[in-house]
Order: sequence, then C-alpha cells, then structure tokens
Amino acid sequence: MAEVVFVDSEAAAGTLAAASIRSLILRKPDAVLGLATGSTPLSVYAALAASLAADPIDVSRVRGFALDEYVGLPAGHPESYRSVITRDAVVPLGLNPANIQVPSGDPATIRTAGLDYEAAILAAGGVDVQILGIGRTGHVGFNEPGSSFASLTRVKTLTEKTRADNARFFPSVDDVPIHCMTQGLGTILRARHLILLAFGPEKADAIAAAVEGPVSSSKPGSVIQLHPHVTVIVDEAAASKLDNLDYYRYAWAHKPWPGI
Ligand code: GLP
Repeated sequence: MAEVVFVDSEAAAGTLAAASIRSLILRKPDAVLGLATGSTPLSVYAALAASLAADPIDVSRVRGFALDEYVGLPAGHPESYRSVITRDAVVPLGLNPANIQVPSGDPATIRTAGLDYEAAILAAGGVDVQILGIGRTGHVGFNEPGSSFASLTRVKTLTEKTRADNARFFPSVDDVPIHCMTQGLGTILRARHLILLAFGPEKADAIAAAVEGPVSSSKPGSVIQLHPHVTVIVDEAAASKLDNLDYYRYAWAHKPWPGI
C-alpha cells in the first residue's frame, strides 16, 4: 500500500520530496528523474533548487524524462511541456538540458514517437523516481480514464474536462491541443519509486480513488495500488476523502527511519 504523508503546506511537501531526490542523486549521480508538469510539482523543484543552492552537489549527470507533451504546438511554444519542464525544473535545478528528454509532440511522428521514448527510457536504465501530480479526472500523466494499466508511451485524446482545466495556460480552450503524447500507466509502473503529490479540495476525490478506490482503469490514479513503492504526499484538503487517515498518520509517526 502507498505510504500516505500529510503536510500542512506545499512547501513542506516540496521539502520532503526534495530531500529524497537529493539523497538519490548523492547515491547515484546519474539518477534518472521522472519529471511532471503542472502546478503540483513546483514546490518540489523549488525546494530542491534551494537545497542545491545552499549546499551544492554535482547534478551534471542527472538525467530526466518528462511524463507527457502536447501534440501540435510549435517548437518553443511557451506552454509546450518541453518549455515548461525547462522553465520549472531544468533551469532552476541546473540540470544539463542535453540529459532531459520530452516525448515528441510533432504530429508527423506520433505513430512512432512512443516506441522511441520507451526505448530511450529503457536505455537509460529506467526511471529512479517519478514525480506525479493528479488531474481532477483522476489522470496521471495524460492517461485519461479508460487508459490501460499496461499502456506505454503513446498518443492520447484529452478529455474536454482536462482541456478546460488546462485552458488557463492558453488564450482560450480552443487553443488547448486535443491530442498529447504521454507515458503510459505501464511506463509509470516501471519507475522504481513514485511520489504522487496533491493539494486542495478539488483533488480529494481523485486521491481517494487513487489510494483506496477499486483498482480500475476508469480511475487511472489507482494504478499506484499496483506499484511496490509509492509515496503520496497530501495536504488535509486533498486527503479529506480518505477512509484510513488514522492509520496513515500512525504509520508515519512510527516510521522506522526519517523521511520518505
Ligand atoms: C496536467 C498534466 C498532469 C498533471 C495535471 C494536474 O494534465 N499532464 O501531469 O498532474 O495536469 O495539474 P496541476 O498539478 O496543475 O493540478
């Protein structure tokens, strides 16, 4: 079962996750990070950037794979996930851009780009830690409800709800691409450690379904129940619909070692 950790702020969540990633990089200087976009992981990148600034370690060999990308945005579009990952993670963390891969959103290559991306992840030895947010539809990456638990990186059609949620980054909802390339749920399951973060009441249903609901492709986040090493970091609002709150708190309070 996932370890569920409660925090009273996004900053506290970022500090916990960043400490885990920092210790991974110290153990494995060419660690492979699974990088997520969205507002949720920003506190992780900010805390890790602050930690690296205060007490630098060598990150020149760290590698990264983004979870997903829109199809059809022009190269360099500020809301392409290549641009977002560069802005939010690669630059603040001082990672080598040559070590960071993002699925190709070029419409000309969407039938083969997924296979190429999977091959690149395998060639890198797999993802050591995958950072995840969760959408209101329960999607992780861009795996919308109905996505197979065996799915690998491929083209997906975004739901209208996800496009509406992401319209805040575009002039209008009509400018949000209809298609994306996303790591599959099967790809995510191959990562060695998953850190899923969620904040705010609008994520409460998705978190309850992911952590405690039936394992169902209708709730893509429930894929975490099939993974042997998952940490879920939530604030009280995002945790508010979980049943086993007391047990999660008890387990965290009695954890035999510090940190996640
Ligand atoms: C997008 C991303 C997801 C992310 C989700 C939630 O759809 N593809 O990876 O988890 O948004 O975004 P936010 O963290 O901004 O709530």
